[in-house]
Amino acid sequence: MDTHRLANPPMDPSSTQDAFVEWVRQATPYIHAHRGRTFVIAFGGEAVLDARFPDLVHDIALLHGLGIHLVLVHGARPQIEQRLRAQGAELSYVNGLRITDDQALACVKEAAGIVRVEIEALLSLGLANSPMAGVRVPVVSGNFVTARPLGVIDGVDYAHTGLVRRVDQHSLRALLDQGMVVLMPPLGYSPTGEVFNLSAADVARSTAAALGADKLIFLIEGQGMLAGSGLPLTLLTQDIDPLLKSTQLPDDLASYLRAGAEACRQGVRRVHLVERGREGALMRELFTRKGSGTLISAEPYERLRPARIEDIPGILELLRPLEERGILIRRTREHLETDLNHFHVLDCDGLVIACAALYPYPEEAMAELACLAVHPDYRSAGRGEHLLTHLSELARTQGLRHLFVLTTQTAQWFQERGFAPADIESLPSSKRAFYDTQRNSKVFLKDLLS
Ligand SMILES: CC(C)(COP(=O)(O)OP(=O)(O)OC[C@H]1O[C@@H](n2cnc3c(N)ncnc32)[C@H](O)[C@@H]1OP(=O)(O)O)[C@@H](O)C(=O)NCCC(=O)NCCS
Repeated sequence: MDTHRLANPPMDPSSTQDAFVEWVRQATPYIHAHRGRTFVIAFGGEAVLDARFPDLVHDIALLHGLGIHLVLVHGARPQIEQRLRAQGAELSYVNGLRITDDQALACVKEAAGIVRVEIEALLSLGLANSPMAGVRVPVVSGNFVTARPLGVIDGVDYAHTGLVRRVDQHSLRALLDQGMVVLMPPLGYSPTGEVFNLSAADVARSTAAALGADKLIFLIEGQGMLAGSGLPLTLLTQDIDPLLKSTQLPDDLASYLRAGAEACRQGVRRVHLVERGREGALMRELFTRKGSGTLISAEPYERLRPARIEDIPGILELLRPLEERGILIRRTREHLETDLNHFHVLDCDGLVIACAALYPYPEEAMAELACLAVHPDYRSAGRGEHLLTHLSELARTQGLRHLFVLTTQTAQWFQERGFAPADIESLPSSKRAFYDTQRNSKVFLKDLLS
């Protein structure tokens, strides 16, 4: 999403207006879902050097304005290398791990200071007629990371290169609760007063784990890297090791995948890999159904479960267009609240993307399947059938023999899944009494035991 557009919505033509209104409405469930959550966002020093960095900072300010608790973790590799080159030196790497000698450490400290000041300056902008007008984003940085030396491995002394030992989650949480954005450099400190050069990915992963963050987002460099790598849109933690063994991926991408899997194992709910170079990629990932990057999670991204009271707005949103087209009969919010225990939903990262209800008629050993709906963006991938199978099984375990549906426009779909046409007389008597002859729905029946 482009915050310029939010500040100055296009006035004309009306189709653009409609798209704008549609966009805001589509983003609304995410705005509600993200409020009060904790996101750790990590990006490399390359982001800070990019002329479009202010756009990213505006997006970050917007996330803060939406009530999201934010921790920003930045790298500083190009800034460090630039300083070393100016001194005729360079960072040396052994087995993919950098060695930080005294000269390099001095450059790391300098670079981290410069990056911090630049981010703080951009978050302080408040010019009228800019996306930051009237915005106040307090930023805080500090000694929240305790580190230890990487030490000597295979005879190689990595000097001031370190690993995260502990993150002070209590101080971080207190600052986040006060509305601060926390900025974390790739540095850590030891109880003996030493400074260590850390990887931003290590700091981000450890911080997200310590805070039990809702999301850890890696803004990765290398445009087209995600698409080019053929990574699926969603990955389960358990799939990452086999994937890394079977596929040759760029080193950076592989290390983000490892860090992501580790973070999930340590309790972070979702890890997102997003290409920083793609315009608006972060906002698309956070506020659209399709997202823009790759998502890693410990449990399946989608879950079929009984509906809860907080699902009602999502169910209403799913059903409303179908009711308006006469495909489903209208249900009020009160009706849904009363009937909620009959509903099951497919939950995709906290959003209701499909639902169905099962109404048992134990005396006739029958059940009605009603309100089956899958969001248009998620159709034709077996979700409708998944819900049908699940509720059929549920009815069977309740000792019911037949499942029936009343439908006006979806007859064929049910027929292709084992339902046969039936007449109104075959319905349970209490259902028959309320049959709407004007609506003239067709009745279909399935024998659950055959
Ligand atoms: C019917 C519905 C629940 C199916 O959900 P889904 O997740 O797409 O279902 P599946 O992936 O299991 O099945 C998809 C197949 O059903 C077909 N299909 C979808 N709607 C259909 C309809 N009304 N009649 C016949 N076939 C239909 C699709 O074309 C697709 O077939 P294909 O794979 O050959 O292209 C979904 O289309 C929907 O929400 N429709 C609107 C609400 C509705 O009609 N509910 C039933 C009320 S009684």
